[in-house]
Parts: sequence; structure tokens; C-alpha cells
Amino acid sequence: MDPRIDAREQLVVALDFASAQPALALVERLDGQCRWFKVGLELFLAEGHSIVSTLRERGFQVFLDLKLHDIPNTVANAVRSVSRCGASLLTVHAGGGANMLAAAARAAADLSDPPTLLAVTVLTSMSDGELVGVGVHAAMKEQVLRLGRLALAAEIPGLVCSSDEAGFLRNHLGNSPLLVVPGIRARGGALGDQHRVATATEAIAAGASKLVVGRPITRADDPAAVYEAMLREIVEATSGKR
Ligand code: C5P
Repeated sequence: MDPRIDAREQLVVALDFASAQPALALVERLDGQCRWFKVGLELFLAEGHSIVSTLRERGFQVFLDLKLHDIPNTVANAVRSVSRCGASLLTVHAGGGANMLAAAARAAADLSDPPTLLAVTVLTSMSDGELVGVGVHAAMKEQVLRLGRLALAAEIPGLVCSSDEAGFLRNHLGNSPLLVVPGIRARGGALGDQHRVATATEAIAAGASKLVVGRPITRADDPAAVYEAMLREIVEATSGKR
């Protein structure tokens, strides 16, 4: 297969916009290139299921990043409710605990065409200091591994982590979990609120399955050029691993 087609499956653009209009304007600018878009809280709370259906009707895969975190019954019902819109990936917070994760996994398993669930471990915006601030004194990698194990034991097949932990997770958890890595930046690019960042090359080398890129593409003067540059990095990093 053309390695660029595989790489397109690995590169997800985060549509972090306040309404459908600017989001779909960016989608137009990347049409013919990008296959995967992420809809997060900002856009979903503004537009609801319709934005996901619109993207699906236009032939795109949708990663619905709602980071569900509530009591098990509520999260299970939310998984059922939101799955009707046709997203391929859906996030829950691993910090919700074993029972919440298991309830989410069971709810998805009972659906006819469920999204693949991903558990968010520790947000890529969090530093070691912030982890201590919420009462976690474990090292970042250990905490991410702990939450990752909790999610996999609950039959959640994928994890969201930073590139810093991806290699460590691969060593401990093997090749099967889907590892989705946000916090991707060009070398020297603006971090914004992110702390644990990496280039696309570094994240793929560390074992990421998919990369999530928001502002470096959405705020670029030429989003299509940045998308293509990241795609090239993925192709080269993947061939470097073979
Ligand atoms: O603009 P930027 O590239 O930092 O966007 C990263 C995207 O990935 C955002 O939509 C953010 O919500 C999401 N995300 C993250 N860290 C996580 C999980 C999701 O940055 N742990």
C-alpha cells in the first residue's frame, strides 16, 4: 500500500472551533488530504451530533473527544447516546476508575456499530508539578502506565498519552493497544497550553498509532502545507522503524 495512505490514517486534525462554519471551512481547505478529524468539547457543545453526521456524510472518519468522566451508569448511558452519531473513536477519562471504564466498555460492546473507546491517561497539558497538585506523587510515566493498565483491564482497547510515555507504554503493554498522541508540534513551534509535546517524527518513533494535531494546523497560514509536512514526517519515521 502507498505509505502516504497509511500515514493519512495516522494523522488526526483537531477541529477546535466554536461553531461549524470555521470548522467546515478548514475541512474544505484540507479536502482530498485529510481523512480524520477530531471533534472536541468546544465544537460538540455548540453543534451537537449534527457536526459529526456532516463529517461522516462527507466521507471523513471522526474522533469524538468528549473525555467522559462521571459515575459508571451515566458514562455508560452517554456512550449509548453519543454512539448514534457515527464516530469511529470516543474518549473517556481513565481517572474515572475501573468500574466506570468497565461500564463504558460494556455499553459499547452491546451496540451494533460502536466507536472504539480510548481512555485518556494524563492530559498532555499537565506537568509533573500539576500532577503533584492533584495529589499524585507517582512519576508521570508510572501514573500513565497505571491508568493505561486500568483501562486495558476494563477492555478499553486504546489509550491517549503523550509521546514522552508512548515508548514506555509499548515496552510494558506491547504492540496491541492503540496509542493516540496529542501535543504534536513542529520543532520550536508554539506550545500554547501543552507541556508534554513532541514532533510527529518523535511520536511515531516512540510507538504512537495516531497523532492529534490542532493549532499547528488550524492556526497556520497554510494548513494544507503543514498537514503535508507532518504527513511526510510520519512516512519517513515509519520507514525508519522498518
Ligand atoms: O492545539 P493542540 O495541537 O494542542 O490540540 C491538541 C488536541 O488534543 C486538543 O483538541 C485537545 O483537547 C486534545 N487532547 C490533548 N491531550 C489529551 C487528550 C486530548 O491535547 N490528553
